[in-house]
Amino acid sequence: MADLDGKSSEKNKEFFTSVPQETPGFFLKGSHQYDWGLKNRLSRVFHPKDGRTLMLAFDHGYFQGPTTGLERVDQTILPLEPYVDCLMLTRGIQRAVVPASTQKAIALRASGGTSMVSPMEEWEGSYGEGKTIKLGRPGYEPLSNESIACSIEEAVRLNACVLAVQVFIGSQYERQTLKNMTDLIDQANRYGIAVMGVTAVGRAMARTPQYFRLATRIMAELGCHLVKCYYTEKEFDTVTSCCPVPIVIAGGKKLPELDALKMSYNALQQGASGVDMGRNIFQAEDPIAMVQAVQQLVHGGLTPVKAHNLYLELKAKKKGARKK
Ligand code: 5RP
Repeated sequence: MADLDGKSSEKNKEFFTSVPQETPGFFLKGSHQYDWGLKNRLSRVFHPKDGRTLMLAFDHGYFQGPTTGLERVDQTILPLEPYVDCLMLTRGIQRAVVPASTQKAIALRASGGTSMVSPMEEWEGSYGEGKTIKLGRPGYEPLSNESIACSIEEAVRLNACVLAVQVFIGSQYERQTLKNMTDLIDQANRYGIAVMGVTAVGRAMARTPQYFRLATRIMAELGCHLVKCYYTEKEFDTVTSCCPVPIVIAGGKKLPELDALKMSYNALQQGASGVDMGRNIFQAEDPIAMVQAVQQLVHGGLTPVKAHNLYLELKAKKKGARKK
């Protein structure tokens, strides 16, 4: 035992007695008092250099089946993987399609149990696009009647950093979906995994700042580590300001590319910590160009117009390459 023999190394030791050990804070809103494992997982989702994230949401199949753009996830989504921080998906797609060698953080869909053919009654689901969905049949369970759809052991096996749970504030099943969330939080806290409450918007609820302030704050108060909600044209800064944990915005229905970039930019300027975007990326005319434009907007400091120019350039380059 060289160190214990009393002669060899005493004089070579350096104790830095005059240098106080640093006690650094943590970069992410409301997350400075968590344990190491949870902070480490959050640092894989949100980039420590700017506190932001680009999450790619492609879990839509959990209640919609093969959504446009997601018919073959291996063909359309895997090429986007290099440009994002986090993959938001279901365990089925993760196991069947996503290579276990990925270095990207995983946000695992952990609630479910209803589908597009459940009756829609007053709810449209998280997609809240203002349309009446005519697939509902009387007597079926409403969309908001979700359960926890993934055990904590599965989440650990799948190396999830985040568990995503749908919460339907104001719906018939509000209480149950909040209970799904708090049960998951209790389980996830044991293992240092984050829980993201996903705001589901029903037709009965206007997409107002008041509604999102209420919904996101309730989820944060009940223990969510991050919250997903929609952007509002007005007063979005009040939504982010009174939510004590990071907010990421959902992309929502497909918009023209420039509009999607403007929405993301405005949300970030008003305190969002990132975007969790699906259709506005994978349903873009050129999804690989779009994901790079969003990435440069989130992390590269591009304005919406510059990011859109980048999109157009990349799209044109690809078209040119195809013609040759
Ligand atoms: C389902 C979800 C979806 O993953 C996500 O919101 C869909 O993303 P987008 O609206 O951008 O297509 O959370 O509720």
